[in-house]
Amino acid sequence: RRMVLVKAEAAGINPDIRKNEDKVVDSVVVAELAKPLTAYCRCWRSGTFPLCDGSHVKHNKATGDNVGPLLVKK
Ligand code: FES
Repeated sequence: RRMVLVKAEAAGINPDIRKNEDKVVDSVVVAELAKPLTAYCRCWRSGTFPLCDGSHVKHNKATGDNVGPLLVKK
């Protein structure tokens, strides 16, 4: 079990989003959201990160994973 954990840590989760930054951090002021419901990406595959663009569907089909967005209501 420890071997699997070490491999996952070495592979990382972020394939290509803002790799020039030490840490990818975003903040949101909920009161300033434009829409009543906003979806934020948690799969790290969105072309509009940090917003979800539906790329998790393709990722889940290709890998058998089950990731999805965080929905924030205004
Ligand atoms: Fe990443 Fe939807 S695109 S959670």
